[in-house]
Amino acid sequence: MLRSFAIRAGDKQLHKWDLLLTDTHIAAMTAGELPYGVIKDGAIAIADGRIAWIGPNQDLPENTAKKTRSLAGKWTTPALIDCHTHLVFAGDRAREFEQRLNGASYAEIAAAGGGIMSTVNATRDANFGELLSQTKRRLDVLQAEGCGTVEIKSGYGLNLATELTMLEVVRELGNRAEISVVSTFLGAHTVPIEFKNDSDGYIDLVCNEMLPAVHEKKLADAVDAFCETIAFSTAQLARVFSKAQDLSLPVKLHADQLSDGGGAALAAEFNATSADHLEYTSAAGVSALADAGTVAVMLPGAFLTLGETQLPPIEQFRDHNVPIAIATDCNPGSSPICSLRTTMALATSLFKLTPEECLAGVTRNAATALGLGSDRGTLEVGKRADLAIWDINHPQVLSYWIGNNELSELLIAGMPV
Ligand code: NIG
Ligand code: FE
Repeated sequence: MLRSFAIRAGDKQLHKWDLLLTDTHIAAMTAGELPYGVIKDGAIAIADGRIAWIGPNQDLPENTAKKTRSLAGKWTTPALIDCHTHLVFAGDRAREFEQRLNGASYAEIAAAGGGIMSTVNATRDANFGELLSQTKRRLDVLQAEGCGTVEIKSGYGLNLATELTMLEVVRELGNRAEISVVSTFLGAHTVPIEFKNDSDGYIDLVCNEMLPAVHEKKLADAVDAFCETIAFSTAQLARVFSKAQDLSLPVKLHADQLSDGGGAALAAEFNATSADHLEYTSAAGVSALADAGTVAVMLPGAFLTLGETQLPPIEQFRDHNVPIAIATDCNPGSSPICSLRTTMALATSLFKLTPEECLAGVTRNAATALGLGSDRGTLEVGKRADLAIWDINHPQVLSYWIGNNELSELLIAGMPV
């Protein structure tokens, strides 16, 4: 991927860069000994949208950067990555929110025809333009606090037409937005009312019609599913994942959120890029994730909203070196939260993740969860120059304040957005 960014000038190498940022403290978030991958008093050079040089100011080689800017002591981190959202939806579920506070459980509401199905009905009734404008507004909120890449799932259509519309909205956002949008097909989110007593019949539809159509139109980068007693079994989802594999689409899974249904092991069996939620994952599930190199995505917004008390096995993830990512899970039912910064703070207070783990969880490990680890998520030569520049005195602040937005600037592929 690396091109040569230098020309020879006599005996010396003279670097040609588009932009040189100097006088910045850098949290490169590279994995290694150095906490946060810190470079104090550093500089970052960008050429052709990628990082061409990074290191201490004092080691800067001779160069002819077209533009040089001092960041006057601000901190630079990789742009944040929200690797699990359901941003496309219509309506809200405030009524269910109140029902839950009056004692009904998430599963009871779903069994009574509410839950995901109520958002499905609202989404089916909305048109493309309505979905696009509502989703764009949410995406802008994430961008404003430093997100440079956002994953967005379908899954509130549950018929071919509306699933395609949702994914077309995601694609259109990808075309319009300055930040990157990653698209995930979540047809197997729950059993739609039309298939109430025939969940296998719905899986047939997902495998035989939806997935081929989504693939043919190149509308999805990956395939997700919900493995749970109120959704689909491991046997049903193994069919979906096999079909995804036939189409060369990577998979990921909502796993073990409300009960231990063997979701983590299923995800690992299919080399999922990530397994998400994982509150009820067993020790065997954790080692399966470790063996497969699957990222564990923590969703503290859903944990908080559903009043969950079963903590995900964080200590076991650490012991087994399972990479931990953090995401908003932004959706109208289980995680009405449209702030990755707030989610980082929740991960510290609810899951006792450290601020460094939180920042790695929304940069390096979130990139890996999306299969983009070689392209972004850390600040290293060759990676895309997706940079968040902050008015802070240390990156631990990013998991500490809730509701402060210390973002000074966001650069995507080296361009300010
Ligand atoms: O990630 N767990 C399943 N899917 C979503 C919830 C979607 C909803 O309730 O609308 C989640 O929590
Ligand atoms: Fe989700």
